[in-house]
Amino acid sequence: MINSQQILEKDSLKGFYITTPIYYVNDIPHIGHAYTTVAADILARYKRLKGRKVFFLTGTDEHGQKVEQAAKKHGRHPKEHADLMVNNFKNLWKRLNISNDAFIRTTDEEHKRIVQEIIQLLYDKGEIVKRKYCGMYCTPCERFWTEKDLIDGKCPDCGREVECIEEENYFFLMSKYQNSLIEHIENNPLYILPETRKNEVLGFLKTRPLGDLCISRPKHRLEWGIPLPFDTNYTTYVWFDALVNYYSALKYLSPKDTNWWPPDHHLIGKDILTTHAVYWSTMLMALELPLPQNIFAHGWWTVKGAKMSKSFGNVVNPEEVVQKYGVDVFRYFLFREVSFGLDGDFSEEALLRRLNNDLANDLGNLVNRFLVMCDKYTAGIIKPIWRDDNFTLKIKELIDEIDNESLWDEFKLNLILEKIWEIISHTNNYIAKKEPWKLAKENPVEVPYVLFNVWNAIRLISLFIYPFMPETFSKIWTALGLNSKSADLSMLKWQIEIEDVNTEKIEQLFPRVEIPTKIKENKEEKVDELIGIEDFMKIKLKVGKVIEAERIKGSKKLIKIKVDVGELRQIVAGIGEQYSPEELVGRKIVVLYNLKPAKLMGVESQGMLLAATDENGKISVLTLDREVNTGAGIK
Ligand code: ME8
Ligand code: MG
Repeated sequence: MINSQQILEKDSLKGFYITTPIYYVNDIPHIGHAYTTVAADILARYKRLKGRKVFFLTGTDEHGQKVEQAAKKHGRHPKEHADLMVNNFKNLWKRLNISNDAFIRTTDEEHKRIVQEIIQLLYDKGEIVKRKYCGMYCTPCERFWTEKDLIDGKCPDCGREVECIEEENYFFLMSKYQNSLIEHIENNPLYILPETRKNEVLGFLKTRPLGDLCISRPKHRLEWGIPLPFDTNYTTYVWFDALVNYYSALKYLSPKDTNWWPPDHHLIGKDILTTHAVYWSTMLMALELPLPQNIFAHGWWTVKGAKMSKSFGNVVNPEEVVQKYGVDVFRYFLFREVSFGLDGDFSEEALLRRLNNDLANDLGNLVNRFLVMCDKYTAGIIKPIWRDDNFTLKIKELIDEIDNESLWDEFKLNLILEKIWEIISHTNNYIAKKEPWKLAKENPVEVPYVLFNVWNAIRLISLFIYPFMPETFSKIWTALGLNSKSADLSMLKWQIEIEDVNTEKIEQLFPRVEIPTKIKENKEEKVDELIGIEDFMKIKLKVGKVIEAERIKGSKKLIKIKVDVGELRQIVAGIGEQYSPEELVGRKIVVLYNLKPAKLMGVESQGMLLAATDENGKISVLTLDREVNTGAGIK
């Protein structure tokens, strides 16, 4: 099935192959997912512009317990659930002008078959063996954990002792590749980027023995997965299934006239570096397949310094940003604001500053001024006049710097944008210095030459921003009178074959947006580490009356109470060491009403009761000093 020799012989036809992670289908996509996907899109578009054949792959990861549980909650079959959820991703990618060539889903029949073929092949080669092992099991939580997950040897969820349950599972013999992997990383300096990430992986590989990788789960624990072909009592561990997508997609989703393997870039976030740099690399070694050229792990977006999370309610929805400011503003901001690779913090204020300064002032004004002058002084017509001066020499220099593939291959995206903005500011300065409005009176024959230079600089600016802002490119291309010309490699230089063109007036590219005072105020609050009333207003507190209370079996701390807050709620509270259930019944307490439900020792808690704890650990439940009705709000 896999013939690496054949692959190498076809190398002369190698196409450019770039991937994103396949995202968990269950999650709602946010700016983090958009970030990776837009970055891959930028590179794919640049390579197409350079005349390369490109295969750009994204998709969704659809097996595993989480999908199974979420589907159950909605009363759906897991596949039915995935079929609905996948549209969140597909629709967003359309909205963001993502030019992916294919979309893979791990529930595709072809993918499942190829995963099975690969597992069978590795099994036949003796790379996968069955072994007894000790699984760390938390009985109350009904969950297995790995050694790594445990906190002080205890369950990371409930803090109780875990027990070792002997179980048989299948293992990929990853450990034997430890040295070859170190060697490969050291001999290929671009294999893992940025360099800090490479050093992280090497540090870990050189100081700890690499274990073998458990690649199966007993079917009764993970039903929603791909069965092992040689033992259907087991399903495939989700990562072993997911990583194979980069290979399987080529078997049924890519154009067959081109050789795509090995991938040029696996673009990922730093959260999944180990799975790619270690699991995937060693899997490929065992399969005797060439390794990817590069794994690039970018940084992490936070919002106002905090991790994005549904429970904090601070998840930034790309749809909303795009709706408000336009898709290109969003795409531009992500790659200009932070160096690709480092962590970044998202704020609407920072986005608005970029919009007003870089896009409206620098770029938008340049295009607008040019069109007005061209209309006024040359009746909208541009004639090519090839002659060098300081300005054209400087722009040619900058073009060479930007159109340097290693800059793109190493994802120096914000540096590229900085250099494009250098062209923009040189061109703005050129207009200011040449003063075409004065020239028109004093030396009118020079005006067409100056305007032609400006036109040509804007043409190159538009080509270089095309990968980042494809819609803006199209608008500028139209304005320059270039609609009949395709944007390709032949256009990516200063001097091109061109006849006279008619420029076209277009709407203002980026209207300025005033920064609302509310956003400015938010920033000040952050500095003082105070919260605003609007933050407090998110919290709903209510008066509740305890109707029933009982201890949770096997726990000293936890008490389960039924409380009337206008409706009946079940709350699990950790006050059992200081309160008896009997003394709680009948009391009026304060309940955090809009807290996301959670499970404590397997019992659902729909809210939280408020209590004070002093430095000695003494607890006092908040009660009310007058009689009020249950369900009353607290402010
Ligand atoms: O891990 N900042 O899927 P996933 C930047 N299915 N990037 C972020 C981000 C953030 N705050 N949040 C998410 C999985 N990402 C597996 C992958 S691949 C064979 C299987 C991006 O849905 C980033 O690219 O959790 C990260 O690596 C990815 O989403 C994780 O997506
Ligand atoms: Mg994740």
